[in-house]
Amino acid sequence: MIYEFIDQQGTFKLKNPNDYDAYFPLTNSKGSILSSISPNLSGDIKTDNDHFITPPASSVDLKTNLLCRRDFFIQLKNQTLRLSHPYNDTLEAGFLYHKLIKKTKGLEIEILNFIPHNLGCEVMQVKIKNKTKSSLEITPTSFIPLYGRSAENIRDHRHVSSLLNRIKLTKYTISLKPTMIFNESGHQLNKTEYFSIAFEDNKRPALGQFPTLDYFLGQGDLLNPESLQGKIKPLNKEMPFLQGKEALACFRFKKKLLKKNQQVSYYLLSGIGSPESFFKKLNSPSKIDKAFSETKKYWLNHLSLPQLNFKDKTYNNWLKWVKLQPTLRKLFGNSFLPHFDYGKGGRGWRDLWQDALALLFIEPKKTKQLILNNFQGVRLDGSNATIITKDGRMIPDRNNISRVWMDHGVWPWLTLKLYLDKTQDLSILRQKVTYFDQQKPYRGTVLEHILIQQLTHFFDVGSHNIIRLRNADWNDGLDMAPDLGESVAFSFMYADNLKSLSLILQKMKKQKVYLLKEIVILLDQITKPIDYNNFREKQKRLKLFLQKTKNISGQKQEITLRGLIIDLEKKSQHLSAWLREKEWLKQGFFNGYYDNKGKRVEGKIKGKLRMMLASQVFAIMSGVATDQQIKKTWLSINRHLKDKKLGGFRLNTDFGSIYPDLGRAFGFSYGNKENGAFFNHMVVMLGFALCQRGFIREGREVLASIYKMATAKSAKIYPGIPEYFDLSGKGLYLYLTGSASWYIYALLEGTQRKD
Ligand code: G1P
Repeated sequence: MIYEFIDQQGTFKLKNPNDYDAYFPLTNSKGSILSSISPNLSGDIKTDNDHFITPPASSVDLKTNLLCRRDFFIQLKNQTLRLSHPYNDTLEAGFLYHKLIKKTKGLEIEILNFIPHNLGCEVMQVKIKNKTKSSLEITPTSFIPLYGRSAENIRDHRHVSSLLNRIKLTKYTISLKPTMIFNESGHQLNKTEYFSIAFEDNKRPALGQFPTLDYFLGQGDLLNPESLQGKIKPLNKEMPFLQGKEALACFRFKKKLLKKNQQVSYYLLSGIGSPESFFKKLNSPSKIDKAFSETKKYWLNHLSLPQLNFKDKTYNNWLKWVKLQPTLRKLFGNSFLPHFDYGKGGRGWRDLWQDALALLFIEPKKTKQLILNNFQGVRLDGSNATIITKDGRMIPDRNNISRVWMDHGVWPWLTLKLYLDKTQDLSILRQKVTYFDQQKPYRGTVLEHILIQQLTHFFDVGSHNIIRLRNADWNDGLDMAPDLGESVAFSFMYADNLKSLSLILQKMKKQKVYLLKEIVILLDQITKPIDYNNFREKQKRLKLFLQKTKNISGQKQEITLRGLIIDLEKKSQHLSAWLREKEWLKQGFFNGYYDNKGKRVEGKIKGKLRMMLASQVFAIMSGVATDQQIKKTWLSINRHLKDKKLGGFRLNTDFGSIYPDLGRAFGFSYGNKENGAFFNHMVVMLGFALCQRGFIREGREVLASIYKMATAKSAKIYPGIPEYFDLSGKGLYLYLTGSASWYIYALLEGTQRKD
């Protein structure tokens, strides 16, 4: 491990944190402000994609872009210390704060950053203590760039949008309120004020300010600004030449003579809104101390459920950070940390449902409503909204491109099944909710939504009688086989869902259900069974259903529960047997895909062995693979996908070339992202699936590989599970990954299957 835990509350310490590329998240309980910070004080502060307080920071900016740093300069007699530079650093971090301790020139400096759990601003405290035997004179200057606009403006009229900037100086504040929001598809008046407040111990204001980048730099640059050479004086009032410039929250504090052992603190508050109201709440060291201790308490309390107590104390501490991750993803979505320089903060459909697996344990009460709300994203054709915003709104697609991920119908039932298992609340199946994108007002039961998702997919097959891949499945990188591609991997899961749904229905007391009349077209076993071996018959059925539901009657039809159960069982039996027999390869594992030419993807292809982990995981998890097949598959996984040195499991073997008939994944360099990385989400699911099928020793070995890799020195990360490890074992895409939810779920539920 590169760090060491110093208590039982997840707090850790780390020497020389700048040796790594890790970063740390900060936010409040509602996620109304989101920050990232790295040991050189890089990162950004924002409320959403259109409101960045400081300039947006991607991972490449962390060590290269001086404008993406909160900085602090201390001028000594013969030298200037720049606190974003390392000075014998130690990092201490906990829930949820980031504290750097620096020692140099006889000074001990602590830089604390946190966001009060109930307020929308980031607090930075710089405490300077004189540890020399004599007095020391210091001149401090703070430096926080104020960007004040949308992330889009980084490459869309960066300069023109700066002309809109209006900067205001008051005794304690630099605030930026652009006149307009620059957007060529419709300019609007801007109402948002971005600010940074500064004061010295006991509310002493700064001496003056350098409120624009130009003014701060003078003839110099960010390495040698003239303001730090005594050539430019700080200002106390607004000047016309400050307007229309890149803004900077840069405060020059009064020169200070620090006696031996004397200390002084400087406070900086950055946020959005009215600076006066924040200042009232945080205008003294004691108020800030109180906010800090309450924030720590808030997060520890938030993480109290589920209780996970193992003998190994280090593991317990590490697990606390894993438990935080589903909440972080709820608040950040898949955006807004340095690796996640895409998206606009909403969560994807798949992630939303899978995160609920862990949230059901962490905040059980809130999750029922979340589940009901999410079902409103299902369309009558079995597809769904793909982005759900933080306030629960559904959006067809992040980029306005209409796409279908064929695995999306799988996850809601998995989550609902866990909910039913935990609560026995079968009545939720009868609750009515609307559908997404529906012309006519129509509400159907939750059961009806689930049925539509499973049935439409069952019939949506390609020429191998396997469910079509469409625009991708779990693996977002398999996005180039929309015509002839098929996903065996997720066909397994639909087979399982059909079965487990039929089993749950057997528990229902009522003998009848009422479903939208048109659904009966897909319940062919009740009316006139078709030949499931014939893919064309399935396709025809689906076409008919889609035609009829273009304009629904809204009428319901009574269906006997028994008939429904038999229909689902028959479908599941057919699909399971088909997959088990037709997709098993003589090399001792399953084929998981057909590409856009309709060709089998895995097995021995042109003399080279190709194997993908997902294809095996879902064969096992679905219960379709026999024990004998699992044994052989496990041997093949060990042979072809296990890295003997690092102990982890790869997502696929090296196909050795790009694969435009399957997806962009193969364009990534091997060992990264969806091309052969140690992709933790899939690895946890492998561990979980093996345990569930009774291969406990093997499953535990897989789960243990994640802990081992995440805590190895080579991972170079703080506690938690990253999305993946690369070839060298380095962790990338920190915090916002579904693997954390699945890890918790696997620990709590990963024993044997209940059916
Ligand atoms: C990410 C996405 C997830 C997707 C996976 C593979 O995984 O969030 O939806 O299935 O990549 O493409 P995560 O970062 O959640 O581990």
